[in-house]
Amino acid sequence: MARKAVNYVCQECGASSTKWSGRCEGCGQWNTLAEEAALEATPKGLGAKKGRKIQFQGLRGKSEHPPRQISGIKEFDRVTGGGMVQGSALLVGGDPGIGKSTLLMQVAAELSGSLKTAYISGEEAIDQLRLRADRLGVADADVALAAATSVRDIVSSLGEAGGPDLVIIDSIQTMFVDSLDSAPGTVAQVRTSAQELIRLAKRSGFALILVGHVTKDGQIAGPRILEHMVDTVLYFEGDRSHQFRILRSVKNRFGATDEIGVFEMTGAGLSEVENPSALFLADREDEISGASVFAGMEGSRPLLVEIQALTSPSALGTPRRAVVGWDSARLAMILAVLETRSGLSLSAMDVFLNVAGGLKINEPAADLAVAAALISSVSGVPMPPETVIFGEIGLSGEIRSVPQINARLKEASKLGFSRAIVPTPPRPQKNNKKNGNGNTANGGESGLQITEVSRMEDLLALFAQPDGKRGKPQASAEPPAGLTAGLPPGQAHG
Ligand code: TYD
Ligand code: MG
Repeated sequence: MARKAVNYVCQECGASSTKWSGRCEGCGQWNTLAEEAALEATPKGLGAKKGRKIQFQGLRGKSEHPPRQISGIKEFDRVTGGGMVQGSALLVGGDPGIGKSTLLMQVAAELSGSLKTAYISGEEAIDQLRLRADRLGVADADVALAAATSVRDIVSSLGEAGGPDLVIIDSIQTMFVDSLDSAPGTVAQVRTSAQELIRLAKRSGFALILVGHVTKDGQIAGPRILEHMVDTVLYFEGDRSHQFRILRSVKNRFGATDEIGVFEMTGAGLSEVENPSALFLADREDEISGASVFAGMEGSRPLLVEIQALTSPSALGTPRRAVVGWDSARLAMILAVLETRSGLSLSAMDVFLNVAGGLKINEPAADLAVAAALISSVSGVPMPPETVIFGEIGLSGEIRSVPQINARLKEASKLGFSRAIVPTPPRPQKNNKKNGNGNTANGGESGLQITEVSRMEDLLALFAQPDGKRGKPQASAEPPAGLTAGLPPGQAHG
């Protein structure tokens, strides 16, 4: 008898190979390959048998918008694109302990007033679920609880008419299909379980929420292998040492992606944060060097965060570059631009960069805020007070415009900022504006005082000439020593 073939499947990305190796060739992760029984059927061609003709239809035609289930938790509804769609599957991924079960219990409870909701846990016993509901203050909600892990049992119980409108499976990695040989949590089990449940959801028309733990090692398949199967993918992120949590949409067939919902973990569960900018700027001190306030966008909503930089002479041959909350490759680029295009000497400095509050930013628009924080740290000159800043930096030192400038400015004005440093708008619009480079203008409807910059030199100049209003450094015309040292002759006073 032929030996049964085995396959090594990456538990992170699902790539399979016939040989074991320490590193997955698909995604480059280490130690993620696990042995799984190979699928028995070898793919055959179609053969001679004819299939049915498929019918093509025009783009125009009658289609109804699917009804949405609005939870009333605004931050959650925003991220799902205005509520979950019936018959759709939604994946909520996140690190263990970040608050997925808490959030979904709250969502289930909120929706239970208008819909039949079921919460199936493969991780916790009914008593534990009840205790949590008690703590969240939702113990009276009409949510059907079950502790189950067999997909066969779940499908049989939910498939009947009059079933629930919303089903939460916590977590997909604990579910198993008994016809497969592999253990729960492997790629094959997670995929097949999800497939069965999604098929049932489409057939019965309930909204399905799958919880998936993000895993650090290859013991359990990660939620990434399900991303292509579900309609919506949300990731719940946050720093365990901080109170706030961010629900981020990375894929949504029924709405926009890049939306975020901001929550705060309290003693009584997750509460919505209506004004996240105020939260992220809460501990900010004005008038310190090495900090700038970035007016960013997260999806459709503006978000202000403080960016902090620290530079100090390095004792090491290769100075340290440490980044929290931003891309380190991007930092390297900004440092190179500062060095070559503005002559600021940073190569012998340790550089630390931190996005305050533990938020992760991936917008190129933060370039200018990062550069400003760095220049401010090197020069010891604080940013002008009550100022926000944003703009993308190009390799030649040019500062590029970024999208949604008005939304950023409005948010800044709402939070009491009075000035903004922004990129000079691109040429076609320039004719409408009376102001050129480095000039100060009125920020239109936002009411902010706008300073436009088009090159790194313009930004440097803002630090070289402290305006009279600022307390420190003193009104002396001389730029601080740190900055002049780094600047090419003539630049500092230009
Ligand atoms: P949980 O929802 O169990 O995380 P996950 O399902 O993502 O693994 O949340 C776990 C953490 O949340 C736990 O460390 C305790 C904390 N927590 C609170 O701070 N307040 C609360 O009201 C609840 C229910 C949990
Ligand atoms: Mg949980």
